[in-house]
Amino acid sequence: MSDSSGQVARIGVVTVSDRASRGEYEDRGGPAIVAYLEEVLSSPWEASRVVVEDEAHLIEEALLRLCDLERCALVVTTGGTGPALRDVTPEATLAVSEKEMPGFGELMRKVSLEAVPTAILSRQTAGVRGNSLIVNLPGQPKAIQECLDAVFPAIPYCVDLIGGPYMETNEERLKAFRPKKK
Ligand code: MTE
Repeated sequence: MSDSSGQVARIGVVTVSDRASRGEYEDRGGPAIVAYLEEVLSSPWEASRVVVEDEAHLIEEALLRLCDLERCALVVTTGGTGPALRDVTPEATLAVSEKEMPGFGELMRKVSLEAVPTAILSRQTAGVRGNSLIVNLPGQPKAIQECLDAVFPAIPYCVDLIGGPYMETNEERLKAFRPKKK
């Protein structure tokens, strides 16, 4: 265990949707992400939820607040990853990230393609800003479990590497992978 065990991991959950932000549509993505984290994480964590419209500067503002002020170890977004004119979540993610983590998008599209052919329409990616990992998910609530089951095993170790808290999972549900120390 590292020195950061026992710390509460703050996790940002960002729903990007014009309709949900105007209250015309119930946000189902944000609650689905929180339910997923409740099921999978066994170490202490706290969610910080935001619903924002599909505007790059507003998404960037929300991500900057979650990363720099709220010190989130992980920020998960849902929505705005497709090809439509107003889909700008990946651009906003990359604008605030110091490093892109392209493997997350590659793996999520690979597993999603087994479920739906339109998975190629998602430009979802991930990035690191300071001590925060930002991961994009598509807006479809059923995509959330499919995508997170694929990438979550690598998330606790990624958070270790960027100086975040030691995150642990319920191993019977999902086993986090940490390479053995050399
Ligand atoms: N990935 C999974 N796992 N399941 C899905 O239903 N929908 C696709 C794709 N990825 C989908 C998916 C569709 S139809 C679109 S348009 C893109 O994600 C982008 O969705 P978004 O703009 O809501 O982020």
